[in-house]
Order: sequence, then structure tokens, then C-alpha cells
Amino acid sequence: MTIVIPVSPDATRQAASCLRDGGLVAIPTETVYGLAADATNGPAVAHIFEAKGRPRFNPLICHVDSFAMAAAIVTFDPVAERLATAFWPGALTLVLPARSGSDIHPLVSGGLPTLAVRSPRGIALDLIAELGRPVAAPSANPSGRVSPTTAEHVRRGLDGRIDMILDGGPCPMGLESTIVKPAGDHLLLLRAGAVAVEDIEAAAGLPVVRVAPGAAVQAPGQLASHYAPAGLVRLDVQFVEPGEHLIAFGPDPIEGQDAAAAVINLSPTGDLREAAATLFSALTAFDRPEVIRIAVAPVPSHGLGEAINDRLHRAAAPRDSR
Ligand code: TXA
Ligand code: MG
Repeated sequence: MTIVIPVSPDATRQAASCLRDGGLVAIPTETVYGLAADATNGPAVAHIFEAKGRPRFNPLICHVDSFAMAAAIVTFDPVAERLATAFWPGALTLVLPARSGSDIHPLVSGGLPTLAVRSPRGIALDLIAELGRPVAAPSANPSGRVSPTTAEHVRRGLDGRIDMILDGGPCPMGLESTIVKPAGDHLLLLRAGAVAVEDIEAAAGLPVVRVAPGAAVQAPGQLASHYAPAGLVRLDVQFVEPGEHLIAFGPDPIEGQDAAAAVINLSPTGDLREAAATLFSALTAFDRPEVIRIAVAPVPSHGLGEAINDRLHRAAAPRDSR
């Protein structure tokens, strides 16, 4: 059951407590409605992908209530700091190097070394402040549909799949945020949006370069090399060769599992949400020079399994095609 609540201070507290408990709340921002989860809670972030029916773990924007909250999770160069000062809170998203050791769950950045951050206006900002933690939120639409600009749009797309919708009326801008990434003497435009490029150039004092459609940087989910471990990856294994490292799934042991050098089970109970939340840390844990071969148990392909298998297939792809 999805409850729809008009915006009020009490509703904000209710929404924050829902997020704290690992729930999903659709929230109005000045751009479009976002589907929010506590960015430090892996299963909650995995649930976002499940609710949207996203076939891939595209990286999500981390929403913060302040420059200070952002500076705890990413590093700002002077240009990025100027842009945050000029446009936050507002419709500009900055892609910046993620700080190692922050408690943002790796699923938020899709395993990338960068993190997209933005400080939204209005009720979304109050909610993040109330929660006291960054909120991961893509637009609150099912995968492949247009971004919602009213609570009713959200309800039509996601009713029954999320816990709560905060109804703050129509979004004032109705267009997603502009996304830029500092790149030395220029900025890369990763998505045109509600803040004009000319205004960004004026504030940054640097040119904004439009990335050609189809360029790898526009589709960070395609950058497999960031996720692929050093060793060879074998998928859908029915047996384990002695000395292989095993990524297991579910309660049933694979033949030869006792001879594995090490085993990480993505979810001993066979829960795909838990498996999604464990996937990147498992691949990272086995990304060591002494790990020569990684065997991966079959993961069902329904629901979140599609995105998990997409990621596993890239991790297993021949090196040349990465
Ligand atoms: O206005 C908006 O930006 C809305 C509201 C809710 O804030 N959010 C939104 O999120 O449009 P979403 O997930 O629909 O789009 C985020 C875009 C995606 O295209 C994603 O690939 C990109 O941001 N992105 C996120 N993290 C990235 C990263 N580390 N590097 C490059 N692109 C990134
Ligand atoms: Mg979207």
C-alpha cells in the first residue's frame, strides 16, 4: 500500500522516519519528483531499482541538505565549490570524486569512483535535514517512462511499489537538473536540464563542453572496467573448481563448494534485494591479484535479478570488450 500525504511538518517527520526504517518515499523537488531512500542503506537503495524496474544499476543522484553534507562524501575542487555556492540549493547536479570511507552505499554510484550530488530546494531539503543523512533519488517514474512532475503522476506509475508519496503539488521547474562534471580546464555536460549552460559557464568561468551522444561518459553504467575484478569470472556455475573463489546465492551449496578458496554468499536466503546490496562489495572483495578465478552461482533473472545479471555479465566480459 502506498500512502499519499500532503506536505506538512508532520508529514516530513513521518517521511524521515520511513526512510530511517529503510522505506521508499517519493518526494517533490523543484525539478521533478524523486524516489528517495537512505543513501547509506544498501537494501533500501536496491529497492529503488526494483520499484522502478530498472534493468541496470544506473548510478543515482545523492541529495544533500548542505555543502557540508556534500563535502563529507565527495571532494570539491575550487570550480565545483564555486558552482555549489552559486546554484545550491537548486537544479544543478555535480559529478565529483567520491570520498573513500564515506558511508554512502556503493550501489548509489553503481560502483563508480564518482558520485553525483545535488542540494534540492524546498520540502526535499527539509526532509534530508530531518533525516540527517544523504538521500539517493532517481526520478520517481518506472524505468523508460517520463519523469513525474505531480504526485498523481508518481501514483500512476508506482502505486503499491513504494511506501509513501509526499504531495507537494506540481514541481515548479518540471525538468530534471543539469548535470556537469569538472574536467580540468572545462566542464563536461552530462545532461542538459533546468539550469542553463550559459549561467554555469558564467559562474564557473570555464567553458561547458557538450558530450557527444553515445559517448561512454554519458552512460556510466557502461563503464565495465570500473566493476570488473582482476581475475577471470565464470558465470552460472554448476560446480566449483578447487581453488576458485565463489560468489554464491541462496541456501543450496554448489557442487565442490567445500574446495573453494573463499565463499561470499550474496544472499543466503535467496533475497534479490539483499543480493543487489552485496554485489559490489563482493566483486571488490575478490578484486585482488591472488584471486585468479571467480565462480559465480546462478542468480535468477526476474525482478532485480536482471540488473544483477547485467552487472555480472560485464564483470565476466572478455577484457578487450570492456
Ligand atoms: O532533477 C533531477 O536530477 C532528479 C531529481 C529527483 O533530483 N533526479 C534525476 O535522477 O533525474 P535520474 O536517476 O533520473 O538521473 C540521474 C542521472 C542519470 O542519467 C545517471 O546516469 C547520472 O545522473 N549519474 C548519476 N551518477 C553519476 C555519475 N557518478 N557519473 C555520471 N553520471 C551520473
Ligand atoms: Mg530519470
